[in-house]
Amino acid sequence: MNVLAIDAGTTGVTALVVAENGQIISKGYEEFAQHFPEPGWVEHNPEEIWQATLSACATALRTTAEPPSCVGITNQRETAVLWHRRTLAAPRRAIVWQDRRTAALCGRLREAGHEPRVSELTGLRLDPYFTATKLTWLAENDPRGWQDVQSGNVAIGTVDSYLIARLTAGARHVTDPSNASRTLLYGLASGTWEPELCELFGVPAEALPEIVPNYGPIGRTDPSAFLGLDVPISGVAGDQQAALFGQTCFDVGDVKCTYGTGSFVLTNLGGEIVRSESGLLTTVAWQTPSGERTFALEGSIFVTGAAVQWLRDGLGVIGTAPESEAVARTVPDSGGVVFVPALTGLGAPHWDPAARGLITGITRGTTRAHLVRATLEAIAFEVRDVVESMTSGGTGAVFKADGGASANDLLMQLQADQLGAVVERPAIQETTALGAAFLAGLGAGVWGSQGELRKTWHLDRRFEPGARDDDAYERWRAAVRLATA
Ligand code: G3P
Repeated sequence: MNVLAIDAGTTGVTALVVAENGQIISKGYEEFAQHFPEPGWVEHNPEEIWQATLSACATALRTTAEPPSCVGITNQRETAVLWHRRTLAAPRRAIVWQDRRTAALCGRLREAGHEPRVSELTGLRLDPYFTATKLTWLAENDPRGWQDVQSGNVAIGTVDSYLIARLTAGARHVTDPSNASRTLLYGLASGTWEPELCELFGVPAEALPEIVPNYGPIGRTDPSAFLGLDVPISGVAGDQQAALFGQTCFDVGDVKCTYGTGSFVLTNLGGEIVRSESGLLTTVAWQTPSGERTFALEGSIFVTGAAVQWLRDGLGVIGTAPESEAVARTVPDSGGVVFVPALTGLGAPHWDPAARGLITGITRGTTRAHLVRATLEAIAFEVRDVVESMTSGGTGAVFKADGGASANDLLMQLQADQLGAVVERPAIQETTALGAAFLAGLGAGVWGSQGELRKTWHLDRRFEPGARDDDAYERWRAAVRLATA
């Protein structure tokens, strides 16, 4: 029995067909456009996300003999999507998690004294990253469109909800606790939409999706909408929680980092809601069909792989992202150059939407290789900042890495050195989609337990910590202080 996993990420959609032994049988990928209508704004056209989903799935299924037994979904989180309940057409573009347009609105809410209560209820903070202020912005800036939300004609959701609506031809309007817990509207303790928060952000609760467990019977694909397939949708989770699941981080204290556009460090908290005093978020990892929830502590770093992309597309100093490793290896260190890639403000643990990127320590001898190496070092430093906030000084645990940039051996070694911990990279680095497959397969009976899933996890390579350059880390901390000044 095969499982089809759909990973609707920030820049494209990946579809994987996963076999019972956890191996990937086939893959499809389709990019979609990024829209930047104003500085700091980021939007996606939902229809393009849907078309990319169809195309990626068609590619992945083209070479498989049998149809999948079930479908799992994972997605970029926090992004606010609106669609007409009857036609499923989107009345406007989605406002993406990276979008900073609500920074002033967050500031106003903070000044009005709302942050402590919002944090207490949600485990999050007042930052433009999360969904709710994007919805408030729509209500304030597109009042006519918002009337359709209030009248019940237009539904609200995150990308998971939107895709499930499309896959089921409008039969289901649902989300899961891992995605709901990123909206600023979901109560961590109550496990439901909080009326007090819906009121504060001006969001009608009736327009929000029903919250269902992360696996089990979620819906069925409608063959007229989805490639002629009539199969159960039996797993759904936000991409970072899906990666935690895909890395089989099932025990309290297990920790993973996914290196993508940004990097997201999550540690399993078990059933306890632990709150951070140092800039980390508390979030739902997953909920079983019997209602048992596992929580996670999360450090969300907004720009890591995107900084390498900027070297490629903005500066043109490398031709491809993987080339960054070979170029960085031509120098023994960054020659004192420090790059703080605060290109869209800073997330955890600093949380400064106004911070901007900077490069320090440039001399007459600085070359592109130093800058490229400084970029890889910056990623390792950013992750160290988050991990130290998690554990107040180093982690004893094995640190599991995945995502595109985890293929970079130099980065993985720098990471192990900076953390003073073993970094393990699994054989399958597309752990996000794998996690969605695991959830769907558990929900549909392909796998019977977490123990069975653990057996499918295989190591690719272990990176042992070596000598760490603490002077370089001190230079990094000084540069971050400048970036946030
Ligand atoms: O919170 C944002 C995160 O879900 C985005 O992940 O991999 O699509 O950049 P990614």
